[in-house]
Amino acid sequence: MPEIPFSSSQKFSAFRIVEMDGKSAGRFVELMLDELDPGEVVIRTHYSSVNYKDALAATGAGKVMRRFPCVGGVDAAGVVVHSDDARFKAGDAVLVTGYGMGVDHDGGFAEYVRVPADWVVPLPQGLTPFEAMTLGTAGFTAALAIHRLEQNELRPENGRVIVTGATGGVASLAIQMLAQRGYHVVALTGKTTEHDYLKSLGVAEILSRQDLEMGTRPLEKAQWAGALDAVGGDTLAWLTRTMQQNGVIASFGNAGGVELHTTVLPFILRGVRLIGIDSAATAMPLRREIWQRLATDPSTGLRTGLRPRLLSQVAHSVPFADLPQVFPLMLQGKQRGRTVVKFGSTLS
Ligand SMILES: NC(=O)c1ccc[n+]([C@@H]2O[C@H](COP(=O)([O-])OP(=O)(O)OC[C@H]3O[C@@H](n4cnc5c(N)ncnc54)[C@H](OP(=O)(O)O)[C@@H]3O)[C@@H](O)[C@H]2O)c1
Repeated sequence: MPEIPFSSSQKFSAFRIVEMDGKSAGRFVELMLDELDPGEVVIRTHYSSVNYKDALAATGAGKVMRRFPCVGGVDAAGVVVHSDDARFKAGDAVLVTGYGMGVDHDGGFAEYVRVPADWVVPLPQGLTPFEAMTLGTAGFTAALAIHRLEQNELRPENGRVIVTGATGGVASLAIQMLAQRGYHVVALTGKTTEHDYLKSLGVAEILSRQDLEMGTRPLEKAQWAGALDAVGGDTLAWLTRTMQQNGVIASFGNAGGVELHTTVLPFILRGVRLIGIDSAATAMPLRREIWQRLATDPSTGLRTGLRPRLLSQVAHSVPFADLPQVFPLMLQGKQRGRTVVKFGSTLS
């Protein structure tokens, strides 16, 4: 991969989140390396990706920023150009996701990223940098959620598994991973135009958000052995009321709300478990294990493999200069799959 030579006095482009009128807003700026937050490893960014949190940060639609100004972007993949830590050397292909990236440490929406060595994951064999960012925080979150659900005894033979916010980045990837593992996957979506897309990812049934009768009883008809929830709010409350005996829910998102109004009855009468998923704070040993699983093709016979077969089907890329156009679409729920941000005209 051709590399642009690194020099600390070089100016480069970054998309920085600033505070304007009490809200966060994003803008392109020119920076030099010493203006980035400190860290032992400097990475030339080849790809980043757009996550819901990035859209909240860049538009001020949600209070996710922990300090201003801060370069946005929770994900980055690229090549090390400098390292003060013996674990990494110039030329290493690496990725970084989560931790404080893009919220209290300058993140991946920049041509260079400088981070603590403890945050850096060597690019696992079997993934290109583009594929790593097609997965990004979304794929990592989907895999972590499935890992946690299966640690809680979810198995394909237990029954149906529902995925909410189904056409979104995390959900699109989760659907593929679950279907490949033999689960009967039910998608809950607000997009009537994307049913063919969802079927192509492997869903067995589709529920339309507009037609859904949620009911109001503390316990409704038990339908799901497992659930992965991108939405929160009323949707998550409904899930708690419709889980089967010993059903397990992974709650990772709030695209539809942050409140949760339910009763204890699902938990004490059906043994329902509600598991929180926090990808950003995942400790390095588990983080590496999950990335290894994401790089492993399950068709090789390895049961641990979670790599989605149709990874390219969920990806679309935008040049770095077009990044701001993605945020409003994402917040309006109009995006599907994953948006990969491409840096530099010489990079492939
Ligand atoms: N906990 C973590 O570590 C972690 C990591 C990554 C993401 N997340 C969270 O997970 C959620 C999904 O992230 P993402 O990157 O996949 O975002 P995304 O690509 O924008 O997907 C969100 C999906 O949710 C659905 N949706 C949007 N607005 C909705 C509303 N008002 N009510 C109900 N459904 C709505 C839409 O799917 P349909 O049109 O198909 O319904 C949309 O495509 C976000 O809340 C994000 O902050 C959490």
